[in-house]
This record gives sequence, structure tokens and C-alpha cells, in this order.
Amino acid sequence: RRLEVARALALKPKLLILDEPAAGMNPAEKDRVRELIQQLNADGLTVLLIDHDMRLVMGVCQRIVVLNFGRKIADGAPGTVSNDPAVVTAYLGTHAPKGATHVPGSEEMDIAATPKPAASAEPASPLLDVRDLEVSYGAIKAVRGVSFGVGKGEIVALIGANGAGKSTILNTLSGVLRPHAGTARFGDLDLTTAAPDKIVRAGLAQVPEGREILARLTVRENMELGAWARRDRARAHREIDDLMKQFPILGQRHNLPAGQLSGGEQQILAIARGLLAHPRLLLLDEPSLGLAPQMVDTVFEVIQRIHNEGVTILLVEQNALRALEIADRAYVVETGRILLSGTGATLRRNPEVQKAYLGG
Ligand SMILES: Nc1ncnc2c1ncn2[C@@H]1O[C@H](COP(=O)(O)OP(=O)(O)OP(=O)(O)O)[C@@H](O)[C@H]1O
Ligand SMILES: [Mg+2]
Repeated sequence: RRLEVARALALKPKLLILDEPAAGMNPAEKDRVRELIQQLNADGLTVLLIDHDMRLVMGVCQRIVVLNFGRKIADGAPGTVSNDPAVVTAYLGTHAPKGATHVPGSEEMDIAATPKPAASAEPASPLLDVRDLEVSYGAIKAVRGVSFGVGKGEIVALIGANGAGKSTILNTLSGVLRPHAGTARFGDLDLTTAAPDKIVRAGLAQVPEGREILARLTVRENMELGAWARRDRARAHREIDDLMKQFPILGQRHNLPAGQLSGGEQQILAIARGLLAHPRLLLLDEPSLGLAPQMVDTVFEVIQRIHNEGVTILLVEQNALRALEIADRAYVVETGRILLSGTGATLRRNPEVQKAYLGG
């Protein structure tokens, strides 16, 4: 992202259009993006910022235009727009808490009031067991001795800044990368040596960061790829039909090239595709990346629903607040190491975590 902004600036533009420049960054990193935009603007650059992050938008914009389904529903000063009832409804959708009068983030972070009951410590016999994992890209040590466990039926979150090594950990578990030290076991399968297709067949599926849908294939064809490793083709097709009904967003667009879906719709597609592998453990890498709050709600509801149906979940998220809300336990990853761990509720109250990841 930073590289993209730098590349645009190299052209010495008069008008800079930024489309979600801080997507996937944590609050501290977002603050730096905000400072950068403020500085560029002070130096005389006109900026058109497209974003759903109200903290960022409120912090830098002199004027805000709100779009909803292709229509302009508000246009004015930040203070006026964020209190506009039409904006609040469009922004929060049916999830708006009763009496909500402003868009969350426009004043302060809303720490949700319903934490999960505190779960116990790391499970004694975990479904996924990772010990002293080390992964390098040539000379770059991305993961430096990481250990954690995920018990059957848990939702476990990994949170941490950009470049902390979270995706590297997930890619190692799905067999796409190989560690140079440490162990990773899924049941009795050794993930450090098993081929990726064998790992999928054993019930471990990954929904990768950035969705990785195939843009020119249709929605349906993308889902069929999720069932690739399965032999029960007829049943897989029935499941695809079921998923189309469960996620009308996909059903209504089943014959469209997946590249024509919005980011949020692509995310739902990527998750649905992952489910077709019948995972016992689902690895989700930044499922809410770049999504508007309503769509984030949808994605988190979907995660919760999948979990309720018995799938164990390992979730990597920049949206630490949402991740910690639904996680039984979580680990904070920094520069390739686990810095902190605990229940979702404990970590949400931890001042260090609040400062670094929750914007407080
Ligand atoms: N293919 C690669 N080759 C070389 N270095 C890489 C490669 N992929 C990642 N890295 C480096 O490894 C480190 C960890 O990257 P990783 O993608 O795991 O971070 P992350 O925690 O997922 O970050 P983000 O939140 O930005 O997705 C970073 O320093 C990154 O630059
Ligand atoms: Mg990542």
C-alpha cells in the first residue's frame, strides 16, 4: 500500500485519489497514513479519499460525500454528515444499535459490550499444534520460533501489525511454505512435510489473504474449484446450490465472472469456496480486509455460523477488536514472535493491545 502511494506521488500529481489507502492496517499504522495525507494536503495537494474508515475520514477531510448503492445521500462538513440519520442507517444497516446517533469511529472507538465468556488456557490435546516454528524467505526471518495450539471447536485469532508474519504462519500450515525448523501437527498429519492437497483432504482449508478468486471464472466455477479435492461430485454440486441459497449475494450472481463482484462479495465467495473442502479447521486470512462495516458484519456472522456448525477456526485479522470479540483465545504476533496470548476478553482489556491495535 505504501509503495502504491509512493508510486503515485512520484508523478507529482495535483489531484491524488486514494482508494482505501489504509485497508488492512492497524490503528497506529492508520494514524501514520492520516499524518501523511494531512501533510500532503498542507503542501498543496488536493486529495480525494475513498474510505469507510470513519476515524481516518473524519481526521483528514474538509468535506465528506456519502454514497449508498450508487446514490449520493449526504454532502457536507464531517460533523454534520456523521450525525445525519440517513448516513447512520446506511452505514450501520440493520445492526445499528438502538438510539445510535453517529457513525462509530467518528467520535471514538465503540468497544462492544458483549465479550465472550473467558475460556480456559491452551487445550491439552489440540487439533492443531504448532511448536517452535521458524520460517524464512532467504535471509529474511519472517517467523522466529512460534508456538501455539488450537483446540477442537475453538476460534483462535492471530493479531499483529503489517509484516508481523501472520500470513507466513498460515501459508506454512497449509503446506504452501515449508518451515526450516519446528513442528506443526494437525491430528496425526505432519503439516511440515505433507503435500498441500493432502492437507486439504485431511480437513484443513485456507481462505487466503486477498481472496485469490479467479476473476474470469464465474462465481459457480470458483466454488466448484473449492470441491476439487472431493470425490463426491454430485453431493458437492448440491452443496454449491445450498450455499447459493445461504448467501444470496452469490446466488444472484452465480453466472457472473467473479472479478465483477465487489470486494465484500468476493470475500464471501472465497469463504464459501473454502467450505466446499469440508474443513474441520478453517484458516481465514484477513477476511474483513477493505470491507465496509455492514459487510464486515456479514462476514463475521458467516464466521460465527460456520463455527456454530462445528468448524474450528484460526482467524488472522487486522480488525483486532472484532477478532477478539469472537475469539476464544488469541495471540499477538510481532516481528515473527508471539508477544502476548490470552482469552479474547483479556486481550481486549490489555492496555498494550488497546494502544497498539484497538486505537485507544
Ligand atoms: N514471498 C516473500 N519473500 C520475501 N519476504 C517475504 C515474502 N512474503 C512475506 N515476506 C516478508 O515476511 C514478513 C512477514 O510477512 P507476512 O506476509 O507473513 O506478514 P503479515 O503479518 O501477514 O502482514 P499483513 O498484516 O501486512 O498481511 C514481512 O517482513 C514480509 O516482508
Ligand atoms: Mg498477511
